[in-house]
Amino acid sequence: MSAKSIVCLTGLLGVLAASSASAQQGRMAGPLPAEQQENIRRLAAAHARIVREVVLTDTGYEATTTAREEDLTRMLRSHVDYMKRRMASGARVRRWDPAFEEMFQHHRDLRVTVEDVEGGLKVVVAGTTPEAVAVARNHAAIVSGFVREGPEAVRRPHPAVLKPPVPEAPVGKDPSPAG
Ligand code: HEM
Repeated sequence: MSAKSIVCLTGLLGVLAASSASAQQGRMAGPLPAEQQENIRRLAAAHARIVREVVLTDTGYEATTTAREEDLTRMLRSHVDYMKRRMASGARVRRWDPAFEEMFQHHRDLRVTVEDVEGGLKVVVAGTTPEAVAVARNHAAIVSGFVREGPEAVRRPHPAVLKPPVPEAPVGKDPSPAG
């Protein structure tokens, strides 16, 4: 193969990869599918029968979430499987909730592994930047709040953890003490 055709092929593969990523995002963007909304509603209603343990790690956290009832276990696994794929596609959820907006801004810096355990799943979330580590831990605390409090916590917005960047002072002017 000539050098020119290799360059063309590489370009074509790049275009195909980009268009399949945006196609995936397109497929997952928009409101949650009805069955996922129903899953969340039922998980929240059953929050007192869900058990969750979170351990913070150097890079984020490990969480084990389980239930004794088979249908809850199934809903938990389905929820996390769907959300993991949705997050990887770049499609968002809860755009009115600052903590979720922040997590989706950092989704490329979060590594999520999910493993089935008896009654539910163990999720390991690791951030590859200090910001992503902080965002991951905030998410762990929010999910724990969903499990602890149920529907009320699901309806409430949650604060983001990272401070917005401080705007630079205009060049040639002393910053005003009044801000
Ligand atoms: C009682 C309700 C809920 C329960 C029990 C629940 C449970 C979980 C669990 C176990 C995880 C895996 C991460 C971890 O263990 O820390 C997770 C991740 C996630 N959940 Fe939920 N969740 C609930 C409500 C919601 C709601 C209302 C939303 C947004 C519409 C949501 C969106 C997400 C997202 C975006 C992730 C991240 C997926 C990933 O890290 O790959 N969850 N949830």
